[in-house]
Amino acid sequence: MKVFINKRIPQIGIDILKENNLEIITLETENPSREEWLENSKQADIILNVGGKNKYNKEFFDNCPNLKAIALFSVGFDQVDIAEATKRKIPIGNTPDVLSRATSDVAFLLMQMVSRKVNYNIEKVKSGNWKDFDALEELGQELYGKTLGVFGLGRIGFEIAEKCKAAFRMNIIYHNRSHNEQAEKELEAKYVTFDELVKESDIISIHANYTSEQADTFNKETFEKMKPNLIFINTARGGFHNEKDLFEALESGKIWGAGLDVTNPEPMSNENPLLQLPNVCVLPHIGSATIEARNGMARLAAENVVAFSKGEKMPTCVNS
Ligand code: DGY
Repeated sequence: MKVFINKRIPQIGIDILKENNLEIITLETENPSREEWLENSKQADIILNVGGKNKYNKEFFDNCPNLKAIALFSVGFDQVDIAEATKRKIPIGNTPDVLSRATSDVAFLLMQMVSRKVNYNIEKVKSGNWKDFDALEELGQELYGKTLGVFGLGRIGFEIAEKCKAAFRMNIIYHNRSHNEQAEKELEAKYVTFDELVKESDIISIHANYTSEQADTFNKETFEKMKPNLIFINTARGGFHNEKDLFEALESGKIWGAGLDVTNPEPMSNENPLLQLPNVCVLPHIGSATIEARNGMARLAAENVVAFSKGEKMPTCVNS
């Protein structure tokens, strides 16, 4: 079977595919054009997809009638029309668990950076504006004992709640499709309505699976209900927040600050006005960017491919 890998991945994934005698198609260019991606997809039985740019929808599947399976190098699967893939009996594999620690670390890092205005302070040193000790300038807020609101308490949500509980004795509230009994038992997490989450949290961290129905869940109306000390963290997908409304909430001081590892679109333009605000920290989607997580993702994506090629069920499949 032919496996098309659209971008480079850690060697461990390639080795697994080779050991299983799969034919690998790769591209010379680091950022292939849409045409190159489509042309190579047409040759493939299986695609190992890296990155969120390629959309796997009806039009794509119509263009690639030979395609039998997709193994995503990501836990998120929002770029795939799952209903369409399922209708065509195309299994979609993803890479859960292996990146939960790394991604929640970035959420944890961002909330500390924003609470202590790290961006502002780094800039102050770099620009030569560090003059003298000032007892009142741009003070931070402590995270100890605050209320963390987790939007989407699955694997990554659990990790961030656990870290915040252990490090800062935070009180955990969450909103999710269903109750997370482990979090309720081990972390004393309390299930709340979305409205309660928005009104009662000191920090909101998003860890849900994104679908287009959830676009702009965090918008003007929700930002207006938040506490003024609210720290907004998004390491999931940029579509969850309305960027213009977030900018207004931050600029007007309606909320304290925001830490974003995801934007909409990606990459964010370096002229984006959010980058001018002292209370914002933006990272270039590095949630899973550790050696450990990326090796785990490569291994799992390759194992999904191998299992499918042998006629077996993918170990981590989102639509079967
Ligand atoms: C994921 O795994 O979904 C991360 O966002 C990387 O794409």
